[in-house]
Amino acid sequence: MAVRICPSILNADHTRLFEEIDQVATADLLHLDVMDNLFVPNQTFSLEQCREIIAHSVIPVDSHLMIADPDEKAILYAQAGSASVTFHFEASSNPAATIRQLRGAGVRVGLAVKPSTDFESIEEYLDDIDMLLIMTVEPGFGGQSFMIDQLPKITQARDAISKMVMRAPWLQVDGGISLETIAVAANAGADTFVAGSAIYKSGDPELAIRQLRELAVR
Ligand code: DX5
Ligand code: ZN
Repeated sequence: MAVRICPSILNADHTRLFEEIDQVATADLLHLDVMDNLFVPNQTFSLEQCREIIAHSVIPVDSHLMIADPDEKAILYAQAGSASVTFHFEASSNPAATIRQLRGAGVRVGLAVKPSTDFESIEEYLDDIDMLLIMTVEPGFGGQSFMIDQLPKITQARDAISKMVMRAPWLQVDGGISLETIAVAANAGADTFVAGSAIYKSGDPELAIRQLRELAVR
């Protein structure tokens, strides 16, 4: 199974963000956490900053929208040049419409669930998305501990995805992924891994990416 590593720049050094982005060019996708201080109690990049980051990055950008109004705004992040736009199921009043709108804009479409949302809630959308994101921390902040109680949900999602015949969405995990936790997440069935602190606090982002990749391969 192919493995993808997605460095999150949330906890990178924002005073030299472009250099920090350049350090992870060997990764698969740059993970861009967008927070609006409504859906989560934290605020990050503006749409204009997202545009600049996307324009700068040599690897495709995976925008993770932790915003309260994805049905109205997700499309803006597609138009800003994201390769992939992931919005939260909990924040959307019409996931099917937002999925369609994003697909129309030509980006990969991701649907994210918080730890308290069960797999059954989003199962009906599996055929229509390119990636399911299972949060392994409460969204809002980097540097939290991986929630092992999310492992059954990952396994449940993998079982469902492996039964799909026409296409198979990627299964992403985000939160607390490190050299210590990536293997258990991979064993449960994840194939796409977001890592913030484990990469940017390691002192050697390129080495951390390589080590994470080796530990995730099944
Ligand atoms: C948390 C964000 C994550 C975060 C991960 O809400 O969605 O992408 O940056 O950071 P670590 O890897 O440090 O848990
Ligand atoms: Zn994220």
